[in-house]
Amino acid sequence: MTTYNIGVIPGDGIGPEVVAEGLKVLEAVAADYSFSCNLVEYPYSGAHYLKTKELVPDRIIDEWRSLDAVFLGAIGHPDVEPGLVERSVILGLRFGLDLYINLRPIKLYATRLCPIKDKGPEDIDFIVVRENTEGLYAQIGGHLKRGTSDEVATVTGVYTRNGVERAVRYAFDLTQNRAAESGTAGRLTLVDKANAIRPQNLWTRVFAEVGEDYPDVEQDHAYVDACAMWMVKNPEWFDVIVTTNLFGDIITDLGAMIQGGMGIAASGNLHPGKTSMFEPIHGSAPKYAGKNVACPLGAIMAVTMMLEYLGEDKAARRIENSSARLLADGSIPSVDSRSGLSTALVGDMVVEAVKSANQLSRTPEV
Ligand code: IPM
Ligand code: MG
Repeated sequence: MTTYNIGVIPGDGIGPEVVAEGLKVLEAVAADYSFSCNLVEYPYSGAHYLKTKELVPDRIIDEWRSLDAVFLGAIGHPDVEPGLVERSVILGLRFGLDLYINLRPIKLYATRLCPIKDKGPEDIDFIVVRENTEGLYAQIGGHLKRGTSDEVATVTGVYTRNGVERAVRYAFDLTQNRAAESGTAGRLTLVDKANAIRPQNLWTRVFAEVGEDYPDVEQDHAYVDACAMWMVKNPEWFDVIVTTNLFGDIITDLGAMIQGGMGIAASGNLHPGKTSMFEPIHGSAPKYAGKNVACPLGAIMAVTMMLEYLGEDKAARRIENSSARLLADGSIPSVDSRSGLSTALVGDMVVEAVKSANQLSRTPEV
C-alpha cells in the first residue's frame, strides 16, 4: 500500500471547515484504491500569527520539500496587516518550493450554476495555466520617502526566458494530453498584454518557438482585456490558456464565476515531479467563518487535483464524477452559502456518493 505524506494547512476563516470536508472525502476513497495518507498538520495562519507572532520559518519550508503534497484551506485574517501572512504561507510555498505552475480548471457542472445566459457544461470546460513565480509577484520594488507627499512606489514585473519557457511548455504538453483524451484538436491561447507592455513580447517569442515542437496544437492569442470579454461572450472558444502570474490571478476569479462561483473553483500549484500544493481558490471569507455554511466543493476539487497529481487518477475521477452528479441532479442546489446545506452536510453527501459509486462498480456484471 502506498502512503502519501501530506501537509495540511487549514489556515483562517472558513479554511479549517472546508479542509475538514476535503479530508473526509480523501479518506473515503483511500482504502478502495489501496493508498493511505499520513497527514501532518501545520498551524500557520493569520490567527496563529496574532497569537504567536510566528510566520513560516525557513526550516518548515525545507520540511515541506520532503512531503508528497500540501493541502491548504485559506489564509487571511481581518486583524492582520493585509497580505503579510498570505505572502509568508501562500507565496512562501509558491516561491520556496518553486511551484512554477498554477493550474486552474474552469469547468461548469450544471447549467443553472452559470450566470451567463444560454451557456451550459458543453460550453465551459477549459483550464488556465498561470505562471506562478514571476511577473508582478516577484516582490521587486518598494517605497521611497514613504508617507510623505514625495512618496514613490515602484514594482518591477520580471519575466525570465526559462520561467516563461517552462510554463509555456507545460501548457503545450497539457493541451496535447487533453486533446488525446478527448479525441479533439487541442488549442492553446497565449494571454498577455504585449501591445502595451512591450517586454511581454518575450512571451510572444517563446510561445512561437516552443509551439514549433507541437505542430498538432492550434495556437491562438488574446490580449488580456479581450480575453476577459471572450470568457463571458464565447467561453466555448477556450481549451487551454497560458498567461502571466497577475493576469492568471485575475482571469481565474472571472473563470470561477462562470463555472458557478468561488465555492467550487480549485487550483494546483505545481512543480512537476516535486512536492506540490493544492488549494481552493477562494479566500478565508471571515464573515462565514465558524457558521458551517461555506461550500466545501472548492476544497474537495482541490483534493481531486492533488490525487491526480499523485497518480491516483481513478480516485480523483470518482470524487469529481460523484460531486458532478450531485450538482447536476440538484441535490447540491448551489455552491455558495445560500445552498441551504451545511458545509459538513455537503461533505457527507460527497462521501456517500463516492461510496455508492463504489458499490455500483463492484456489482458483478450479469
Ligand atoms: C490566489 C490568491 C493569491 C494570489 C493571494 C491570496 C496572494 O488571490 O491564489 O489567486 O494573488 O495569487
Ligand atoms: Mg486570486
